[in-house]
Amino acid sequence: MIADMEKKFLVVANWKANKTVEEARAWMKEFYAEERWNWLKNNLERIEVVFAAPFTLLHFFEAPHFDAHLASQDISVFSTGPYTGEVPAELLKDLAVRYCLIGHSERRKYFGENNALIEKKLDQAIKNDITPIICAQSLEEIPANIRNYPADKLVIMYEPSEAISTEGNYHPENPETVKRTLEDWQKKLNLDCRFLYGGSVNPENCKLYIVNCNLLSGFVVGHASLDPEEFFSIIKQCILPLSS
Ligand code: PGA
Repeated sequence: MIADMEKKFLVVANWKANKTVEEARAWMKEFYAEERWNWLKNNLERIEVVFAAPFTLLHFFEAPHFDAHLASQDISVFSTGPYTGEVPAELLKDLAVRYCLIGHSERRKYFGENNALIEKKLDQAIKNDITPIICAQSLEEIPANIRNYPADKLVIMYEPSEAISTEGNYHPENPETVKRTLEDWQKKLNLDCRFLYGGSVNPENCKLYIVNCNLLSGFVVGHASLDPEEFFSIIKQCILPLSS
């Protein structure tokens, strides 16, 4: 069984390649308005909010008052060294990055990432105590080396690429398909890890996934996370009944 702490519902804001420092500051100010701040504080045991910010903003998020966790949207296959342009796990860890998206479909599509690369990224993350959020559309996209690691160190996200919002238009996957897919993956992988869903999650549809999919432990929210009000509305609907 996944430990109690891990039963928190994980809500990841994937800002992708968006937001200047000024825009992030304005977002935070609105998101952490007093009543929201109080609500979040009262629900910290049930919800974990994670910001998958672009590399340029990770430092900005390090502020000491900050209660949510940080994720990077990618990680290097290399450790520190002469790899111009790369951001290795050791440097991410230094900025208190706790999670890392690995193998997002946009990285597979635009940067040619394949499972061989993703296996190396997974290794780098785990070696540095960064929890990987492995993004996959199908079982075949889940790297084989997940078997080398304990399930409680892994998070797997089902993200059918056709469900990802385009230019602000949502094309969500049917909740029944998400449910069946997660059940199938858990059975075939035989892994007691956390499973997330990502793809057009928004305030109108998030509850449908929660109600339908027992195995669901969280969301990765792209477009709807760019607006603090929409993102907060999703978070509020994600409270799970605590098991006794
Ligand atoms: P979306 O993106 O919520 O905008 O569909 C999700 C993702 O790609 O992580």
